[in-house]
Amino acid sequence: MTPATRVTSPRLIVALDAAEYTEAESLVERLAPLGVMFKVGLEALFGYGERIRARLEHTPGGYFIDAKLHDIPRTVGAAVRTLVHPGVRIINVHALGGAAMMEAAVQAAATRAEELEIEAPEIFAVTILTSIAPEDLRELGLSGGPGENAIRLAALARDARCAGVICGAHEVAELKSFFGTEFATLVPGIRPAGAAHDDQKRAATPRDAAQAGADYLVVGRPITRAADPFEAAQSILAEMRT
Ligand code: C5P
Repeated sequence: MTPATRVTSPRLIVALDAAEYTEAESLVERLAPLGVMFKVGLEALFGYGERIRARLEHTPGGYFIDAKLHDIPRTVGAAVRTLVHPGVRIINVHALGGAAMMEAAVQAAATRAEELEIEAPEIFAVTILTSIAPEDLRELGLSGGPGENAIRLAALARDARCAGVICGAHEVAELKSFFGTEFATLVPGIRPAGAAHDDQKRAATPRDAAQAGADYLVVGRPITRAADPFEAAQSILAEMRT
């Protein structure tokens, strides 16, 4: 599969996966000058959600709430309503929650943003987690590999008017060729060459993900656990641009 033609260069999203607010805050202080976007995941949301969201409200790069919502449509719509705030650029849901659930999320984001007179966050759908290997799919009773499942779920997400999907780097080129460059891809499981893969089973380097046409690259531990997170983020940004 040939890589998609790039419309804009990909953006780096740093996952603020830290046990304590002070640790997450210090990462924001150190990395905001690089113009990166931040990601508030479950650990931060449940641990110190209000404080970190207040801190990120005026960060120029904005932030992504990695809430991975998956529930009945009404509950997901109601949850999205509570998450729409200034500075929130992206909120995500699981595509496996189904079309009606994704539509409820998109609708709730638009309605709440209109009420608040702010820009609506984009809704992204998680296809298959990058920690899931092909054999795990079989165990879950899903036939086909991660690529086939990602395409099927992405079609549902696009029809539900999601702005894009979260997928593995290896699925980006095919998704772009099916759905066009406008339908965005956000890729976690990024590991610079030689770095530990941790629990990520479909990992790729920053360069490979960028060259495949990914719009956003999510990086956590290779930056947050580095001796110098600023230097680690700078070197990933440089690799994304080569
Ligand atoms: O530390 P690491 O770079 O593996 O962090 C990746 C981040 O992206 C984590 O916060 C994880 O929750 C998130 N994520 C993921 N796979 C997805 C969606 C989100 O790894 N499919």
